[in-house]
Amino acid sequence: MTGHSNAEVPSPEELKAMSREELVALGTRLDGVELVEYGERFEPGSPADKRAERSVAKWFLLATLGALLFIVAFIWWPQGYRPPNDPNQWKYSLYTPILGVTMGLAIGGLGLGVVAMAKRIFPHEVAVQERHRGMSEEVDRRTLAAEVADAGHRSGLVKRRGMIKGTLFLAGGGLATMAAVPIIGGMISNPWAKAAGAPLWVTLWAPTVMPDGTVRKVRLANVDGTPVRPQDMAAGGMMTVFPGVPGGAKAADSPVLLFRFRADTPIMVRTGQENFSYGDFYAYSKICTHVGCPASLYEQQTGRLLCPCHQSQFDLHDGARPVFGPATRPLPQLPIELDNEGFFVAGSDFHEAVGPGFWENGKFPAWSSHPQGSQS
Ligand code: FES
Repeated sequence: MTGHSNAEVPSPEELKAMSREELVALGTRLDGVELVEYGERFEPGSPADKRAERSVAKWFLLATLGALLFIVAFIWWPQGYRPPNDPNQWKYSLYTPILGVTMGLAIGGLGLGVVAMAKRIFPHEVAVQERHRGMSEEVDRRTLAAEVADAGHRSGLVKRRGMIKGTLFLAGGGLATMAAVPIIGGMISNPWAKAAGAPLWVTLWAPTVMPDGTVRKVRLANVDGTPVRPQDMAAGGMMTVFPGVPGGAKAADSPVLLFRFRADTPIMVRTGQENFSYGDFYAYSKICTHVGCPASLYEQQTGRLLCPCHQSQFDLHDGARPVFGPATRPLPQLPIELDNEGFFVAGSDFHEAVGPGFWENGKFPAWSSHPQGSQS
């Protein structure tokens, strides 16, 4: 026997015949527990009792509210990516904090409600007990179960306390629904339903069509907004450039690496992209097609670009196709040309999605390239 006092242990038949109160008393005797204080906290139905009940229910209601707000925000808040210069960018930036705060309310409210219930509803008890080693025996388990059931009866949770049981049910149900919503959420809301104009397909390099029908192309600019000209780069050089529009240096999908290869470098160009370069200048997305790190470790002699995150390598002398590591797609090439003031502009937006592959990205044509200047 483990840790029992000298009290006599009843037989299994005697145990079955004992009432809940008798089992509670037996449990304390067997465990050598001295109950200094034990009993209901408040007179059932008294004003103090009702106040205690309301103070617990309010936490469960808060948890329910948090869970409901989470579900509403998850489904209806406009969570699609918005670039920094978009007037609705604040909505996109608030999406994750709103989910975090509402989830915190739901979980925190439920936890605080349980703590309040233990402190204000369950029977008040002050007990002194010696610790013992080893696993509990059958008699211990039965008497403990009786003590838990007794606490349920004395606290009124079994027969009364409709408010607490109701709000606890609401909070538990809300939390369970909250956990399920993200799993089925993708089937309810598709942020990329309007694929052609969706932010995953368009970057700040896209030209703007002005009200008079003219097309304004976007300049390649330094981080401070200074536009870039061919004479700003020496042969063999590399420069990070951004769209020369408001917010261009902050848009996550827009950084581009501009290269000026030496004139005698043998260059292969990707089929269909023969006109994307300007002389010896080539522009590629800086965002790695594996999982989106900025790739900018450039080895000039070999023309390789290394992504530091997982060591993917791209052959810049052959259309930036991946030649090592986990990336499977080439870095998208930005078509470039000069405007009438001699500054670089993007001839159009990228012709393929920037960054990591994703489900809606579609199938990619088989790789094909040929020496610059030849037909195919
Ligand atoms: S993100 Fe570039 S290799 Fe993984």
